[in-house]
Amino acid sequence: MNHFQYKNGVLYCEDLPVSEIAAEVGTPFYLYSKATLVRHFKAFDSSFEDIDHLTCFAVKSCSNIGILSLFAGLGGGADIVSGGELYRALQAGIDPKRIIYSGVGKRADELHYGLKAGILLFNVESEQELYRLNEVAAELGVKAPVSFRVNPDVDPKTHAYISTGLAKNKFGIPIVEAAELYEQAAGMENIKVLGVSCHIGSQLTLISPFIEALRKIKDFVKRLEEKGIGIQYIDLGGGVGIIYDDEEPPHPQEYAKDIKAELADLEATLIFEPGRVIVGNAGIMVTEVQYTKSNRGGEKEKHFVVVDAGMNDLTRPSLYDAYHGVQPVVEKSGGRKIVDIVGPICETGDFIAKDREFPEVSQGDLLAVMSAGAYGFTMASNYNSRPRVAEVMVSGKEFAVIRERETVESLIQGESIPEFTGES
Ligand SMILES: Cc1ncc(COP(=O)(O)O)c(C=O)c1O
Repeated sequence: MNHFQYKNGVLYCEDLPVSEIAAEVGTPFYLYSKATLVRHFKAFDSSFEDIDHLTCFAVKSCSNIGILSLFAGLGGGADIVSGGELYRALQAGIDPKRIIYSGVGKRADELHYGLKAGILLFNVESEQELYRLNEVAAELGVKAPVSFRVNPDVDPKTHAYISTGLAKNKFGIPIVEAAELYEQAAGMENIKVLGVSCHIGSQLTLISPFIEALRKIKDFVKRLEEKGIGIQYIDLGGGVGIIYDDEEPPHPQEYAKDIKAELADLEATLIFEPGRVIVGNAGIMVTEVQYTKSNRGGEKEKHFVVVDAGMNDLTRPSLYDAYHGVQPVVEKSGGRKIVDIVGPICETGDFIAKDREFPEVSQGDLLAVMSAGAYGFTMASNYNSRPRVAEVMVSGKEFAVIRERETVESLIQGESIPEFTGES
């Protein structure tokens, strides 16, 4: 359930008509509902309230500090994948002891930053990373808290680009080889082995792959215990899917029930790294129709609705061929046509929806691109020298711009025209 609903044919975000916000901030923009963000965070987190757990929101899915601070206030932690995300999490007031650091390519300066900040865990993804972390920790005279991200070789049955737990994916350490690394780590001066982690993919609509991975992890933890290596944290990553179209993902409570049943005999703090399931349906992107046109070619006439948001603003349709619902902000009663809803970018792959049956719209109409809260703004770029759009949060009848629209001046910030001497 989210707080984007029509009242008398007009789309509202909580108690505010979307068109009123558009009139003040211009288009395109991302719009988040505070009540939905809170509701979804609590729906996930409270499903595990009866066990020792930590919900570390996946910052990569939506990283605005206005949103991160909301989760910090609800007791949430953060799953980060870069020094930049660590900075954001700390600025948003997230307790470093609730921050875990994932990712295959952490640089030495990023490890240094994480150690200085005193984060809870580094999810180490390779032997070389372990050695580097040990060195950086030695320089600082501390012990680095470590979990290894193991790759359980489980098919999450999701899009290939967001599948991460198969042996052929770059992520983690093959579970069959990981025990050896734990033994090495246990003997290292500046490493403190605390956990096991895994994340098998994103937008999963089945619980079974999570359970398959968990069973492998359980066996693995038992093997480690036999070797005298105790595990305090088991991190199951993120990945619970949402409804974009007609998917039937599990409710967080169902997911939690099955996970808890599997874990009954293990004593460890559970860590989760949910992103999409919390923010995906808590945000939309609002865009304005610029032109409508029809191209006649061959037998078919093709209709286009050209809007002012492009693949640089919302990449998912172009990158993953992902589906997003698109709705006029003011309901239309006229005829319907099959259209492509496309952006202004100079790429044929720049589209928001393809071959979609859509009401007839005209120049100036506002459209809402639904379920855009996750991997929406965070994946935006300046391609075609387009300033990134504004982000807005609504609470009841109030709204706040939580990120200003970039300007053309900000586009060239840090750039310069070099003045070479010509002597060399
Ligand atoms: C390591 C890790 N944790 C958590 C997530 C969040 O996944 P989701 O947004 O599907 O919950 C991701 C996303 O790819 C990830 O790579």
